[in-house]
Amino acid sequence: MSTVQPANPDLPILRLQGVSKAFGALRVLDEVDLAIQRGKTTVIIGPSGVGKSVLLKLIVALLRPDRGRIDYEDRRIDSLSDAELVEVRTQFGFLFQMGALFDSMTVRENICFPLIEHTAMTAAERNERCRQVLLRVGLNGTQDKMPAALSGGQRKRIALARAIALHPRVILYDEPTTGLDPVRSDVINELLNKLRSELAVTSIVVTHDMTSAYTIADRMVMLYDGRLIADGSPQEIQQTDHPVVRRFIEGKAGQAEWLDQPIQTTGPGADL
Ligand SMILES: Nc1ncnc2c1ncn2[C@@H]1O[C@H](COP(=O)(O)OP(=O)(O)OP(=O)(O)O)[C@@H](O)[C@H]1O
Ligand SMILES: [Mg+2]
Repeated sequence: MSTVQPANPDLPILRLQGVSKAFGALRVLDEVDLAIQRGKTTVIIGPSGVGKSVLLKLIVALLRPDRGRIDYEDRRIDSLSDAELVEVRTQFGFLFQMGALFDSMTVRENICFPLIEHTAMTAAERNERCRQVLLRVGLNGTQDKMPAALSGGQRKRIALARAIALHPRVILYDEPTTGLDPVRSDVINELLNKLRSELAVTSIVVTHDMTSAYTIADRMVMLYDGRLIADGSPQEIQQTDHPVVRRFIEGKAGQAEWLDQPIQTTGPGADL
């Protein structure tokens, strides 16, 4: 299989065109168009249940669209077989909404899991990669700990370390700061910004956390009633006149949602 070639840096790295998705009678996405800019952080906001997680899962082809197409670089990916997707997926890191770690594995085993699945690295090479990504998230030394022995914020950072272990070009984050207090959220926001500036990673972040959104976003889009109803810089979104967007961001601004949303620690994909 051919490797995906880096395209013109000005071209979007990912493109959704006319993407629709329903579950039975429930119409979730209705002809969504979205072009994701290379090396930038795109934040997706919107009320609960509007289809933000579905949108991320469509991008990594954990779900398939009913209509429309999704292209990554020069390849249409929504119609690839699972076998063909294996290679494309190694270029995506995915931080799931609900807890992201296998509770029965140590930190090292969690981080080495994708390396065993997708690379021919030796155990020594995997351990070294594990050390590097843990250093990056500030948690080197936790290799032999079990997830249950870590705080919620630490678990999120370990999950991030695992998501970057394969050096993905695109990282998708589903609610990376939900359940964290503001100080721990800041740590995640800083890490996200560092990944963009140091590794030129393209990030797509779903969040309810408007403080985080304004801190990390190059661009924000709002999903509502199956469609993207807003698209702009954080400043443009903050100044929008759109009544639905205004209500959403003003409603969120005063809400300390981390107080009532405990961290969940089920395995990867548990929120599918
Ligand atoms: N696999 C599935 N089968 C059936 N319905 C689904 C499936 N996945 C999602 N849905 C439904 O699609 C809608 C959108 O779900 P989604 O998880 O994308 O919402 P969300 O915007 O991420 O919400 P939240 O902010 O609460 O995480 C919901 O009504 C959900 O119940
Ligand atoms: Mg969700």
